[in-house]
This record gives sequence, C-alpha cells and structure tokens, in this order.
Amino acid sequence: MTKLQPIVEIKSLNKTYQVKSGDVMALDQIDLEINPGEFVGLIGPSGSGKTTLINTIAGLITQTEGEVVINGIDMSNLSDAEVREFRLNNIGMIFQEHLLVDSLTALDNVEIPLIFNGENYKTRRKKARKLLKRVGLKKKEKHLPSDLSGGEQQRIGICRALMTNPKILLADEPTGDLDTRTGNEIIKLFKQIVEEDGISIIMVSHDPRHQKHFDRMIKLRDGKLDVDSIHD
Ligand SMILES: Nc1ncnc2c1ncn2[C@@H]1O[C@H](COP(=O)(O)OP(=O)(O)OP(=O)(O)O)[C@@H](O)[C@H]1O
Ligand SMILES: [Mg+2]
Repeated sequence: MTKLQPIVEIKSLNKTYQVKSGDVMALDQIDLEINPGEFVGLIGPSGSGKTTLINTIAGLITQTEGEVVINGIDMSNLSDAEVREFRLNNIGMIFQEHLLVDSLTALDNVEIPLIFNGENYKTRRKKARKLLKRVGLKKKEKHLPSDLSGGEQQRIGICRALMTNPKILLADEPTGDLDTRTGNEIIKLFKQIVEEDGISIIMVSHDPRHQKHFDRMIKLRDGKLDVDSIHD
C-alpha cells in the first residue's frame, strides 16, 4: 500500500512561552503526522497544550523550535503575510465562541473569507448559500447570530470555515458551549465533511463520549504526546 503524503507533519516541535515568573514549556518535542481525510480528536487536561498545538498548526503562534509542514509547505519559510494567505486558503478555524460578527446576517458572516480573497459578490453569495443549505440553515440566512441557537451559530461558523475549500479544519472545543445532543450533531456534521470532502479535521474535546467518533485520538499531557493513546 502506498503511504499517503500527510497533510500535517510536525517534527520535534517545542513551544515555550516567556512570562515574568519564568518560562512555560507548553509543547515539548511533539512529533505528529495527520493524513488527508482523518478525523482526529485532540484531548488532554486543561493546560496540557491543546490550544497551543492547534494555534501553532494554524500559524497563529510561532514555535520556539521544530517544524510545522502543512500540505508540503514549511510554515517557518513563509513571511507573516504569506502565512496569512496560506491560512486563508488551506486552513479553516472553528472556535468555541464561534466569533461571528453580531451585526451581520448569517449569510454575510459566511461570506467573509471570500471577501478577503477578493472574490466577486455573486460567486460569494452563491457559495455561501450552498453551504448554508448543506448544513440545513437555508431558511435562516437573513438571521443575525443573536437570533440563532448555539448549535446554529456553530454551523454558521463551520460554513464560514469551509468557504475557501480548506484542506484542514482546526476546531478548538467547538462543542464546549453546546448541550450533549447539539454537540453530537456538530460532530456528525464534521464526520460528514471528512467523508464527503476528504479534508482532515483536528478537534479539541474534553468529553470522553466523543472518542467513538474519531478515526484517531491524540492525547497531550504537560505538553508531551501521550504515545500510548495514539493507536487507541
Ligand atoms: N499566551 C500565553 N502566555 C504564557 N503562557 C501561556 C500562554 N498561553 C498558554 N500558556 C500556558 O501554556 C500551557 C498550555 O496552554 P494551552 O492553552 O495550550 O492549554 P489547553 O490544553 O488548551 O488548556 P484548556 O483545556 O484549559 O483550554 C499552560 O500552562 C498555559 O498556562
Ligand atoms: Mg485550550
């Protein structure tokens, strides 16, 4: 069997935050590969480095040492502007607080990434509507985020993240603010996206009941990968 080219390759990754009281080693010698089409759960206690790892893969945080290669591109060779452009085109981000713009409708919120990409109005609208339909929110396109449920807001955030056809979705506790049933619906939607679009998703979760949905689990402890968990 030929080995797939990993979509994410992380080699000897270290991240140290410098604070007044001393250095905090948030990531300690992480080696990790994520394949195309993998749905990966990232778990670990509070403070174990999950958000740091997600944000380093996204290029939002610069590592202290080591390599982050995404889709064959070594992020450390790119300028800040190139990292921003690379992220826009290759990585979709989904947050616990979904970070929608309160004054914009659902449709306008979904369109945002393609405005940054310089796409024309008609193409943006068409694509945003198609995604809203896909997640069952066609009828809610004119609603403001405040007029939507938490699960609906998160689905808007997912549509927004999918607008540029990213190769990878990074989701930091996307179900953290949701009740169990709504959280499960979001995970099922992620599974569907992985299967239909062939993209990879790394999702941070605190809930052990989510384990059964993932293709693979990665566990962090004190900034280190808990190797035993990798093949769970
Ligand atoms: N900006 C920062 N400056 C200094 N230290 C930080 C910073 N961000 C995170 N840390 C520290 O790095 C470590 C890892 O934090 P991180 O936020 O990645 O953990 P986490 O696993 O996402 O935790 P949680 O489950 O609570 O979200 C912690 O010790 C944290 O205090
Ligand atoms: Mg976190």
